[in-house]
Amino acid sequence: MNRLQQRVEKLGGILDVAKALVAERDLDRLLTLIVHAAARVVEADRCSLFLVDRDRGELWTKVAQGIGTKEIRIPMNRGIAGAVATTNAAINIPDAYKDPRFNQNVDKQTGYKTRTILCVPMRSVEGEVVGVLQALNKLDGRAFTDEDEELLSALGGQAAAAVNNALLHHEIEQLFEGFVRASVVAIEARDPTTAGHSGRVARLSVGLGDMLPRAGKTAGRWKGSSLTSQERQELRYAAMLHDFGKVGVRENVLVKANKLEPLELENLRGRFETIYVQEELQAEREKVQILLRTPADEARHRLAQVDARLAERRRELSGMFEFVVSCNRPTVLPEGTFDRLHDIARATFLGPFSGEKRPFLSENEVVKLSIRKGSLTEGERREIESHVTHTYRFLTQIPWTRTLKRVPDIAYGHHEKLTGKGYPRSLKESEIALPTRMMTISDIYDALTASDRPYKRAVPKEKAYDILLDEAKRGELDQDLLRVFIEADVPGNAPQEP
Ligand SMILES: [Fe+2]
Ligand SMILES: [Fe+2]
Repeated sequence: MNRLQQRVEKLGGILDVAKALVAERDLDRLLTLIVHAAARVVEADRCSLFLVDRDRGELWTKVAQGIGTKEIRIPMNRGIAGAVATTNAAINIPDAYKDPRFNQNVDKQTGYKTRTILCVPMRSVEGEVVGVLQALNKLDGRAFTDEDEELLSALGGQAAAAVNNALLHHEIEQLFEGFVRASVVAIEARDPTTAGHSGRVARLSVGLGDMLPRAGKTAGRWKGSSLTSQERQELRYAAMLHDFGKVGVRENVLVKANKLEPLELENLRGRFETIYVQEELQAEREKVQILLRTPADEARHRLAQVDARLAERRRELSGMFEFVVSCNRPTVLPEGTFDRLHDIARATFLGPFSGEKRPFLSENEVVKLSIRKGSLTEGERREIESHVTHTYRFLTQIPWTRTLKRVPDIAYGHHEKLTGKGYPRSLKESEIALPTRMMTISDIYDALTASDRPYKRAVPKEKAYDILLDEAKRGELDQDLLRVFIEADVPGNAPQEP
């Protein structure tokens, strides 16, 4: 009766373990769990677990009680574990040192004395050997029994299912990870000047998330908030992909440094040179006329006048061109400077082929050169802003797993402002979620401090903090989160590889 009760208890124990195993997705923790359960079920001193790696024809283990968690690999056909894995049958050895299959070297290395061994295959539902469970030294000093073999095999079956589950889960995670990284490579290939931005924003966002629960009162209304490991991963993916939509923005707009594109400026330079050459030619013609019609001593004086006028004109034209070049840079221009631009635009010259009068500057050039802030026209700015919508459209195409389903939404809000004046949806404060707010701060900080464009100087950290604080004061950014960001020095403390 007592034995029957024990058996029922052990079987019940296996069921409990099976439930726990199914819930554990992390392979390392799962393997530890199995090994401890196995040792308990058969009352063994130690237990180890080997997994089959068919691609390499090897058995490998990470968890071997007593030896630590180093990864050990052995050929599939070696030793007792190898024999069990290849024959798919259990081996029960009552006296290890009398059995030729036992490798005494392992004991010599570890100082352990193996006496009894029970080794069973871990079979999947399809009957395939996934791994091997090996129990050493029954605690009562006797050999392992048939019942032990039965119990360990039952546990092995549960363990096999759980390991397959965890491996599959791990593969899916790896797949997502690889896909996200490949997407980042694609964005950065398109816009090399923003290289590293996505990774840095992910690092800062996750870093801020990690600091939040430790911030105490500093976190204000977010006091006590924290991210679960799944939410952390969700935020990380959203941050890595937040600017992916830039692949949908025309490249010349994306990498535009000045108001005119380089070819447009070259074209303009050519035009000013043509205008000068025309005037030079005109001067030469005048000089010929003077020489033909004027007495020599008077001619010398008039020729000098023509030369002086031409030199003056040359200075004027190159002055105009230099002014145009200065307008072309993306600076904030003082009022009035554009008057001179309009004056230049009103001047005309004769088109060398058509003979028609043409303005020095076209209407389109004047519009572009009179941009007050930055280097983009209204249309170009809208086009750049559309990257957020492109990002969202792209991300919603992906069948995210349940724990990652908010990735598209988090990324969609990264240019929204708490004042409702952000884009593209002008969301209200209540509609902007915590992870999005963390990413917005990180995105702006990195845009300010990165020296990623030849024409843009990197802002030092303290100055970037001041700019962010100004935005928070205007109600655009989350003040509480920004306080944590600055006080915990997230840029200095965030994990390098989040
Ligand atoms: Fe963006
Ligand atoms: Fe960004």
